[in-house]
Order: sequence, then C-alpha cells, then structure tokens
Amino acid sequence: MPQIIVVNHSGEESNVEASEGRTLMEAIRDNGFDELLALCGGCCSCATCHVHIDPAYMDKLPPMSEDENDLLDSSGHRNEYSRLSCQVPVTAALEGCKVTIAQED
Ligand code: FES
Repeated sequence: MPQIIVVNHSGEESNVEASEGRTLMEAIRDNGFDELLALCGGCCSCATCHVHIDPAYMDKLPPMSEDENDLLDSSGHRNEYSRLSCQVPVTAALEGCKVTIAQED
C-alpha cells in the first residue's frame, strides 16, 4: 500500500496509507482531512478536491481531461502542479509523493 504525505492548510505533514485502486481524494478524505471538501463526491464537477502534487511525481499521473482542466481554471490557486485529486488514481508509483491540499477559493 503506497504511503503518501498529505500537507494541510497549516503546512503540517502527515503520512497516509493510500490503497491502490482508490482515488487520491478518497485516500485523503478517508483519513480525516476535512479541509478537502470533495463536495461532488468525485464526479469531477466541483473542484473542491484541488491539490498540488509533488513536482517530481507529475509525470506519474494520468493526463488531465478537458473537464478537469476547465474546472481547475475556475480556481484562483491553480498552478502547474494542480490536479483534482478525485481524478488521480492511487498507484504504487505514488509512494512517497507529497500532496498539498490547495487553499479554498
Ligand atoms: S470531488 Fe468534486 S471535482 Fe473532485
């Protein structure tokens, strides 16, 4: 089970066990991070699961869909490492990846 590092709004880091086959959003939410609202439940329509991915891991993620790209455009906190965590599957390649919960818009 890959271990990821979740960084909350205060900059505190926590190690989280993430099950493969789930999404990054589920792994973060199910470990009690209520800053990640994930209001739409993972159907790529709210952008409240916005995270910033460790730059070294960006090329290990699947490409972004047009919908995800459009939704991220609505965020004032978007940067080149932005993803919607409900669109990112947990894989072994994410072992040690640092994931920062984006500030709310
Ligand atoms: S949970 Fe709504 S877009 Fe990811």
